[in-house]
Amino acid sequence: MKVDLKFKKTLMPIWAIPLVSITSLFANPAPPPPDEFVAKKIITIDANSLDYSEKKFGERIRVLDTKDGISAIEIDEEALPWLSLLMHKDFKRCGGYVLHESADEALDTLDSMGEKFIAKHESFVGYNINQPNIVKPLLENVTASKIYESIIKLSSFPNRYYKGEYGVQSAQWIHDTWKNLVSQRSDAKVELFKHSQWDQPSVVLTFEGASKETIVVGGHQDSISGYFSSPKVRAPGADDNASGISTITEIIRVLTTASYKPQKTIKFMAYAAEEVGLLGSKEIAKTFKDRGENVIGVMQLDMVNYKGSSAFDIVLMNDYTNAEQNKFVGSLIDTYLPGLKWGYDSCGYACSDHASWHMQGFPASVPFESKMREMNGRIHTANDLVSFSGDNADHAAKFAKLALSYIVEIDQ
Ligand code: BES
Ligand code: ZN
Repeated sequence: MKVDLKFKKTLMPIWAIPLVSITSLFANPAPPPPDEFVAKKIITIDANSLDYSEKKFGERIRVLDTKDGISAIEIDEEALPWLSLLMHKDFKRCGGYVLHESADEALDTLDSMGEKFIAKHESFVGYNINQPNIVKPLLENVTASKIYESIIKLSSFPNRYYKGEYGVQSAQWIHDTWKNLVSQRSDAKVELFKHSQWDQPSVVLTFEGASKETIVVGGHQDSISGYFSSPKVRAPGADDNASGISTITEIIRVLTTASYKPQKTIKFMAYAAEEVGLLGSKEIAKTFKDRGENVIGVMQLDMVNYKGSSAFDIVLMNDYTNAEQNKFVGSLIDTYLPGLKWGYDSCGYACSDHASWHMQGFPASVPFESKMREMNGRIHTANDLVSFSGDNADHAAKFAKLALSYIVEIDQ
């Protein structure tokens, strides 16, 4: 059942509670003065936060260009965590920027985005929803306790930071777990996608279909805590985003148990380095674009186990996503998860890896755990634990079912 977002937000949302402590800690956060020898970074941000950023950072930022509501800027590297902090405080965004390797890459993004709410190059092909005989038995096999076990394991690493030993160990755990799950299948392979600028690899599992048309279901594996995170800081990231990776792990188990043989090629991805500007997915999506891969649909699972909205089970973000595919995903919920309530909301910025695919012109959707303002308020802290989701993965199981129905219904 689709529910419209009509009511106004008046009370302080749950996620704002940690802001109270953040703001009291940094009563009037002001970035340190500029240093002319500091390294520069290139980022893109929503243009609606540009005036604000210029005011706060003065000569520490330089605007390169603005197009279609997105600005490319050069910024002092040391100012980046301050930008995150201020974005969180004043725009209710956790980071709110995408990091780029070069000015050219950022400017290309502005050019290729065009109208940011509509994927420019390819569009989503509509599919009839007509595979209940395959979908329904798969959904019955989804087991919340298995998702829960994976969340416990992933959140037991001290962190999954993109730099440092734990981020590498947790990536290896994902790789080994996925490899074990598909060890009996000759049509499946699990690979590490290595990134040159940091240690943590992305992990990619491929079920090779007869057709090269490719369906991608992914989520980020890394975790972060605070604005000045490091390889030493505790960052369990149970909801953000052990929940997404554990849900994907369960989808792989269910498909394998059922000996599901896809027509099309299905790829599951655990992206590295999302929390520091979508770095892993940006590199992968660009590689796929450059290689001319035919990615017909992308689903992102990022934060799926905290039921923050009593009025919604699943919320589809309507920015940096494909409107046609979102409608299709909504129809899948109505068909296969008929008791669930769903609606739309917007991130307001490139909030997760779906945006990397969208910016390369691939149709992407991101079914999310709640309305933005009611999402888990403990993310990016040492308290992002599964206990805050009731010590179970019942909410995440809904997303496993949705993603399974998505895969099967477009794999035809
Ligand atoms: N899972 C979060 C945020 C999120 C919110 C995802 C709503 C999907 C829907 C994600 O890991 C995150 O923290 N993203 C950063 C942006 C990134 C570009 C650094 C954020 O929200 O600021
Ligand atoms: Zn996050």
